[in-house]
Amino acid sequence: MTRRAVPLGIGHYLPDRIVPNSHFEALVDTSDEWIRSRSGIERRHFAADGQLTSDLATRAARAALENAGISASDLDGIIVATSTPDLTFPSVGTMVQAELGMTRGFAFDVQAVCAGFIYALCTANAMIVSGQANRMLIIGAETFSRIMDWTDRSTCVLFGDGAGALILEAQDGMGTAQDRGILSTDLNSDGRYRELLYVDGGVSSTGTAGKLRMQGNPLFRQAVEKLSETAETALQRADLTSGDVDWIVPHQANIRIIQGTAKKLDVSMERVIQTVQDHGNTSAASIPLAMSVGVADGRIKRGDLILSEAIGGGLAWGAVALRW
Ligand code: UT7
Repeated sequence: MTRRAVPLGIGHYLPDRIVPNSHFEALVDTSDEWIRSRSGIERRHFAADGQLTSDLATRAARAALENAGISASDLDGIIVATSTPDLTFPSVGTMVQAELGMTRGFAFDVQAVCAGFIYALCTANAMIVSGQANRMLIIGAETFSRIMDWTDRSTCVLFGDGAGALILEAQDGMGTAQDRGILSTDLNSDGRYRELLYVDGGVSSTGTAGKLRMQGNPLFRQAVEKLSETAETALQRADLTSGDVDWIVPHQANIRIIQGTAKKLDVSMERVIQTVQDHGNTSAASIPLAMSVGVADGRIKRGDLILSEAIGGGLAWGAVALRW
């Protein structure tokens, strides 16, 4: 028998306000056509004034708990992946814990920017497999609208707000690639690339939250290369090939990155869950949002093999193979 971290439920939340590309035509020198053709983005959601990352995270968590048919008291731990916390501390995780009325167990945040959900999944998997926890809630939640420079056309048109949440439970498997749950993981980072994507403020430097800065084109080139490599590694570790993949659920930064990675992996775009057109880049929230959409509309079914990959600031990147 092999202990596996198996999906029990999933949910998401998107703020009510939907912002079409045309909104940015009045702010900066851009066009709906440029944004669509270069990124695949058509619209994104922005949080309302006063709506915090923990609010989005809690809503997604409640949806996941309902989907799983359990209550917060059934959880041993919460991990929130975010780079846009409400406060410097305490963690968004503990805020969600309090909102859910969960008074036992543990909660904390991980910060790996757009790769945050992959890092959180790997952490939760390690805790479940080692026996430290039996049921965990893993959330990706972001309000990137709060760190946009609205005068920078190369970034402000790309990002959106949202949250997705997944519940994992310890179950016994056979130790084969046919098991349900997380089958393999791969994590990487390389701090030499920090200038490609960063925020120009912080607690110990400027004392401000700062704004997002990105060198999109060199990042784009790194992304396709590194995402296909990490995805291949995760598949190999589970004795799988890309032919076994039912769904790629990728980080949703740019449709051309998604297409380029799928092509390198030799997986048809019909087997890729795409939400970038509706959500924009929601950083750590993008994978659980896309997974939740794919489950809710019936495409992702029990037993399907999912391959998720993400890359972001750091650079930090990684992949997870999991059977739904
Ligand atoms: O989630 C974390 C990971 N993030 C990513 O992986 C993002 C990776 N990068 C990208 O998605 C793409 O590089 C972008 C969508 C950001 C940009 O696409 P690109 O094809 O790499 O364009 P570019 O940066 O090479 O810019 C092409 C032109 C430039 O003008 P010139 O120098 O050719 O005159 C830009 O100034 O497009 C210009 N441009 C814009 N034009 C209209 C940049 N932003 C805009 C804009 N509207 N919003």
